[in-house]
Formats: sequence, C-alpha cells, structure tokens
Amino acid sequence: MTPSNENELTQAVLERLSSAKDPRFAQIMQSLITHLHAFIREVDLQPDEWMNSIEFLTAVGQTCTDKRQEFILLSDTLGASMMVVMLDQARAKSRAALGANAATEATEATVQGPYYWAGAPDLPLGANIAEGVLGEPTFYSGRITDTAGQPLQGALLDIWSGDGEGNYDMQLEGSEMAARARIRTDAQGRYWYWSIRPTAYPVPVDGPVGRMLEGMGRHPNRPGHIHMMVSAPGYVPVTTHLFVANSPYIDSDAVFGVRPSLIVEYESHPAGTAADGRMLDVPYWSAHYDFCLETQAT
Ligand SMILES: [Fe+2]
Repeated sequence: MTPSNENELTQAVLERLSSAKDPRFAQIMQSLITHLHAFIREVDLQPDEWMNSIEFLTAVGQTCTDKRQEFILLSDTLGASMMVVMLDQARAKSRAALGANAATEATEATVQGPYYWAGAPDLPLGANIAEGVLGEPTFYSGRITDTAGQPLQGALLDIWSGDGEGNYDMQLEGSEMAARARIRTDAQGRYWYWSIRPTAYPVPVDGPVGRMLEGMGRHPNRPGHIHMMVSAPGYVPVTTHLFVANSPYIDSDAVFGVRPSLIVEYESHPAGTAADGRMLDVPYWSAHYDFCLETQAT
C-alpha cells in the first residue's frame, strides 16, 4: 500500500508489522506507532520541532555514561518509571497467593532511580554503612515479614543512599562506593544498621533533562530518601525508598516517587548510647520501618 494521506500513512506503517515474529513485540510496536502518529497530528508537529526532538533524544543518549543514566532520568521525570512500577506491583498483587490469613499489605514499590550500583558490600547487622560519609548519623531498624506477619530470616536489604548534602558516591569525582550495603535479617526477621539522614537533592540539571524541566517550569528536587531493594527467596522482591517525613519537596517529588506508606518520621536523640549499644558523641536520629513481602505466585 502506498499511502496518499495521513490516515493511510499510519495504516501502512502498521501493516508492515504483519510478519513480526514476536507477538508481544508486535503489540508494543503497534501501540507505539498508533500513539506516536496521533501525538504528531494532535500537536501538529512542525519540522523544526521534529528536529529539536531528534536532537534532544540524541543529547539524552550522549549524556549517558557508565555512571549517569539520562534516559532513566527522562523516564523518571515524565512519570513513566512510576507508571511501570505501579502497574508491576498491581500485577504481582493480583497474582499473589494471598491467603485468608494475610495480615499486612506488601510494602509499596517506588522508582529505582539512576544511582543503583550493583555489588555493594555484604555488611553485618548493626554496621555503619556510611562510614566517613557526610551527614547526621541515623539508626535504622525494623523487621521484614511476609503478609501473614511471619518473620523472614535471611531476607536481604540492598541499600543505597546519598550523603547528607544530597550527593551519591557516583556523582563525586573519583569516589569509591559509599553509603551502600547488603544486610540480612536475623532469625526474628529483624534488621538494624547505621547510615545518615538523607537530605533533599536536585536530580542532575546540567543535561537535556534539566533543560526540559526548566522549559516545563518545574523544579528538579527530590525529598530526602534512602533506597533499598528488599528480597527473600520465594517472595516478590520490592524496590523502594523510605522518605524522610517533612522533608522539603515531599509533596512535589520531581520523579513522582513518594507514596504515603513509605514516609517515615525520623526521631531525634541527644548524644549518648543508642538502642544497639553504640555510643554517639553527637546527636543522632532513628528511623523504624517494617517491610512486608508478598509470596511469589507459583
Ligand atoms: Fe535517590
């Protein structure tokens, strides 16, 4: 078919999918082409705007390095990452073998963000995962259970955090891995470790996504949060954050990641002996949170 107008053009492109071998890929491309064509027509995209778009996407790709992922940032700031996270968790929930004894909802997921760095050290319970990192000391503790409230022994918390000035190790020139650790629960499903109280920070604004945010009249800031992937064999893993209650931008996260169930009150303490016996010669904070994992559907 040789298209002679806009409608026929869309149809012609869609027809070329008829020989696609993977039906899921064909479904995704069919929808993408349909929406892309409709979008171009809806905004009546001009040739110079089309070229700007090409140059923008090119710049997004060129800004990526082994430590900077501008495409994830683009996805995050457009709410696309959070949409995928929400759909994925809803899917896991509907598949889960939720028994009649389910007492607790599984911990809600949020965006992974661009700063995950695989290979964090395995540290023992009670370790300070942010040794030498700028920021106010914080004692983190809680439990990891299943939805029936049963403790999960050996469940893994894979944690990463920015420092007390909002910078991640990956962003600091020549920095080693810092404020990252893998910690496992004890026989009662308990965990505890030390880190810092995370502060609000802007996503990187010196690249194309920063210019896009500026063009949209949006601020680039995220409220204070600490990241973790929580997992245990036989359970649906969850990638999430804990957010610092009352942190600036808690109501306007640049990547739409805040969920009320993930907001934690950080309690302040004077210098002294902390709950795990550690002596602090400066004031410190504590944050308590219980995680809950859904049983993996078989
Ligand atoms: Fe973060």
